[in-house]
Amino acid sequence: MSSPTRSENADYDFVVVSNRLPVDRVVDADGTASWARSPGGLVTALEPVMREADGAWVGWGGQPDLTVDPFEYEGIHIVPVALSEYEIENFYEGFSNDTLWPLYHDVISSPGYHRDWWESYVLVNQRFADVAAAVSAENAVVWVQDYQLQLVPRMLREARPDLTIGFFNHIPFPPYGIYSQLPWRTQIVEGLLGADVIGFQRVADATNFTRAVRRLTPFPTKGTAIEVSTPGLRARRVIARPFPISIDAGSYEALAREPRIQERAREIREGLGNPRTVMLGVDRLDYTKGIGHRLKAFGELLAEGRIDVEDVTLVQVANPSRERVAAYMQLRDEIELTVGRINGDFGTISHQAISYHHHGYPRDEMVALYLAADILLVTALRDGMNLVAKEYVACRFDEDGVLILSEFTGASDELKRALLVNPHDIEGVKETILSAIAMPPRERSARMRNMRKRVLENDVARWSSNFLQTLEKARVGRYDRIAPLELPEELEWTVDRRWSN
Ligand code: G6P
Repeated sequence: MSSPTRSENADYDFVVVSNRLPVDRVVDADGTASWARSPGGLVTALEPVMREADGAWVGWGGQPDLTVDPFEYEGIHIVPVALSEYEIENFYEGFSNDTLWPLYHDVISSPGYHRDWWESYVLVNQRFADVAAAVSAENAVVWVQDYQLQLVPRMLREARPDLTIGFFNHIPFPPYGIYSQLPWRTQIVEGLLGADVIGFQRVADATNFTRAVRRLTPFPTKGTAIEVSTPGLRARRVIARPFPISIDAGSYEALAREPRIQERAREIREGLGNPRTVMLGVDRLDYTKGIGHRLKAFGELLAEGRIDVEDVTLVQVANPSRERVAAYMQLRDEIELTVGRINGDFGTISHQAISYHHHGYPRDEMVALYLAADILLVTALRDGMNLVAKEYVACRFDEDGVLILSEFTGASDELKRALLVNPHDIEGVKETILSAIAMPPRERSARMRNMRKRVLENDVARWSSNFLQTLEKARVGRYDRIAPLELPEELEWTVDRRWSN
C-alpha cells in the first residue's frame, strides 16, 4: 500500500538511516568541495548489501545548512539531510551528546535536561523519518542507526506501515535506575518500539531495554520478544536482542601485512627513541574513555620508579570530538594539563614519557601504530563495544602484543583473553601494566591467537548479515527461527558470561 509521504522517486529497497553520512564533505585549498568516504567500518559492512539490494543512505553531511541534492557515491545513493546551526546546537550537541550520551554512559558526566533540546530532537527525528519514508520503495527494509535517531522507527512506521524497520543502538542502553531520569523516557521507548528488530551490543543492554519497556508500557515481554499492541494498529511482535558489532578485520590484517606498513611501524619505534616497551592509547577525546585514569596509573608508575621513561613510552592518540560541548572542552584541558605535567616531571632530552597527538590519523598510520605498540591500553569507563581493541587484535597477525581491556566495554564480553581491568582501580591498572610489560612471549601469543580467532570470525560483515537475517525472519513472521535468549534478568553478570561462552 502506498502512503501520502511516499514520493515519486521512492525507489530504494534497502535504506540505511544514520546521523552522519558514510561520506565526509571535504573542501580543498582552492575552495572546491568534494566527498570522501569516512573511515568507519559500517559503510564497508553495508557496501555489498547496498549494491545488491539497490540501497540508499540517509544522513547529515556534517556541516550547518548543507542543502545538497541526493547523489551517487561509489554505487551508493546518498541522501543528505540538512541541519541548521540551531539544530546542530540543540539536537546534535545538546540532546544527543549532552543528554543521551552521558545518560546512556552511566552518567559519567551529568546530563542536561532541556525542553528546547528535546523539541529539536523530535523535529530533526521527524525530518529523518520523512526523508527515509520518501525514498523507500514499497515493502523496503529500513535500518536506522544509533541513539541520535531513536524516535525514527515509530515515526516511519506511522508514515509507512508497509516497511520492515530495524534499529541498532551502537552505545550502551542504561539500567532502568539511570534511564528513568530522562523526562522523555516513555517517548523514547515508544519510538524504538516502532522497529521490528532492535539490536544492542550486549545482552545487558537488551535486558535493560526490555526492563524499561515493562516499567513504562503495558506491553508484555518474554525473552527477546515484546508484544506491542497499539489501538487502531495490528498487534506486532518486536525482537530486542544483542548483535555485538565488529570491524572489517580482514582489511586491517591485509594492511598490517604490507611491508611498507611494517617499515613505518619500525620508523615509529625509532622516532620514539626505541624504548623497550611502547604502550598505545587510541580514543576519541571523550570522558567515557577513561584517558585520565590511564594517565594517572602511568604517571604513578613513573613517580614510584617502577617503570623508567627510557624503557617505556605511552603514545596517546586523542581524536578531537564534539569540541563545542562544554564537558568535552573541560576534558581536553584536564587531559592536556596532565600530559604536560607528566612530561615535564619525567621526560628527558632523548625520551618523552607521553607522545600525545590531538588529531586523527589515516588508517595506514593507525595500523603502523598498532604494529609498533607492545601494549594497547583500553580503559573506558563505559563503552558500547570499543572497536579500537578489535582493530589492534586484527592487525597483530604476528600473534604478539598485549591488550589491556576495561571490563566496562562491550568488547570485554568477547575478548576474554585480554588482561581485563577495572579502570577505577588505579592500583589494579598499574599492576596489570606491569604484568603486560613482563608477559613472556608464549603467553602473549597464546592470548592473542585466541582473541584473533574471535575477531576474524565475527567481523562486521557477519554482524550485518546476522542482523539483517533476523530482520528478514521477523518480516516473514518466522520468530521460531530466531534463537531464543531466555535469561534470568536478575543475574546480569551471569547473563554476560553465558552469552560470551
Ligand atoms: C560513537 C557513536 C556514533 C558517532 C561517533 C562519533 O561511536 O556511536 O554514532 O557517530 O561516536 O561521534 P560524532 O558525534 O562525531 O558523530
